[in-house]
Amino acid sequence: MEITDFYGAPAEGKEYHVNWDPASAEKGGFPSFMEKEIHDQPDAVLQTLLGRSDINGKLTLDELRVDPELLKNVDKIIVLACGTSAYAGQVAKYAIEHWCRIPTEVELSHEFRYRDPIVDENTLIVSISQSGETMDTLMAVRYAKEQGAKTVSICNTNGSTIPRESDAVLYTHAGPEIAVASTKAFLAQITAAYLLGLYLAQLRGNKFQGEIKDILADLNKIPAKIQQILDNEAQIKELGQSMADAKSVLFLGRHVGFPVAMEGALKLKELAYIHAEGFAAGELKHGPIALIEEGQPVFVVVPSPRGRDSLHAKVVSNIQEVRARGAKTIVIAEEGDEAVKAYAEHVFYIPETPTLLAPLLSTVPLQIFALALASAKGYDVDQPRNLAKSVTVE
Ligand code: G6P
Repeated sequence: MEITDFYGAPAEGKEYHVNWDPASAEKGGFPSFMEKEIHDQPDAVLQTLLGRSDINGKLTLDELRVDPELLKNVDKIIVLACGTSAYAGQVAKYAIEHWCRIPTEVELSHEFRYRDPIVDENTLIVSISQSGETMDTLMAVRYAKEQGAKTVSICNTNGSTIPRESDAVLYTHAGPEIAVASTKAFLAQITAAYLLGLYLAQLRGNKFQGEIKDILADLNKIPAKIQQILDNEAQIKELGQSMADAKSVLFLGRHVGFPVAMEGALKLKELAYIHAEGFAAGELKHGPIALIEEGQPVFVVVPSPRGRDSLHAKVVSNIQEVRARGAKTIVIAEEGDEAVKAYAEHVFYIPETPTLLAPLLSTVPLQIFALALASAKGYDVDQPRNLAKSVTVE
């Protein structure tokens, strides 16, 4: 191996340890990388959690080398990302604002740069990128640095450009993601962003240590719960296969379920080339409900009935509203939620979990659905048309 600069002159290289093994870059008996990567998810979340807290629930993010004093002074967080990574950011916003009480914006990298954003030295930029090479995100991070912001990268690829150019990095340990459509990196990104949020809450004293420990304990239960969903994937697979003729599928979600709905729609667009849209369930009556006609498939991501305020009741009434107008309702709900049954053509149950952690579970059936539907259409799920895994041009 020879390391040179752009002019061919010998140059110094910097060594990075990549702890991916060759087996993790193979299909491992699955028909596609995407299917394998969906099944890698319990491990992706587990590996991302591993070694980042002590037995007392104290977070020790050793790699995050930003002066704690600077982090204490942060008065605004801006999350920058594209595609699926941006939806991970949108999920994280709910948790970070709730835990840390720091105003948090999520912005598509390419929109951020050109709108004269308000960024200064008390702004923390959190970029999220699986590849670490997405040009739009890289340029946005560079721009924010020029304005004096502190930059943290959440990234899955050791030594890639975005973490190298950021002040600090929190790696997701999802292993190599080869299928173009992102799955395991998404869950690992949410996990890492949650660790960052809890770390900030710990540092700034927004949460008692015991509370952080409890949330970490719930996070640690997530891998087994994802596995439970995967063990029961036959029902959602069959539904996906049976819907190969669908022309359009709508997704509704509320609170953290909203970005999950958008991610579910994105997976269908990317893999099955059909029109799919994710909406905030509360927005239904402000427009999207006009799209509902006889037989229109509508996925609804229902919040836990044990969760906050009256969100559950509101979303159940949304299911009722679309059903009354002829929609074919497909519901993702928490185990034991009987209220949804009356209005759902199909119900997929996910294990009980605190509201903020639910996206780590509710996304999984939507990924399996998109994979099954696209496979039934005979499409290449690993290499969808017109898409690239890493978009290195602006
Ligand atoms: C491309 C890929 C998407 C990915 C997005 C962001 O569009 O096809 O799957 O979500 O880039 O990529 P990044 O590597 O920055 O997460």
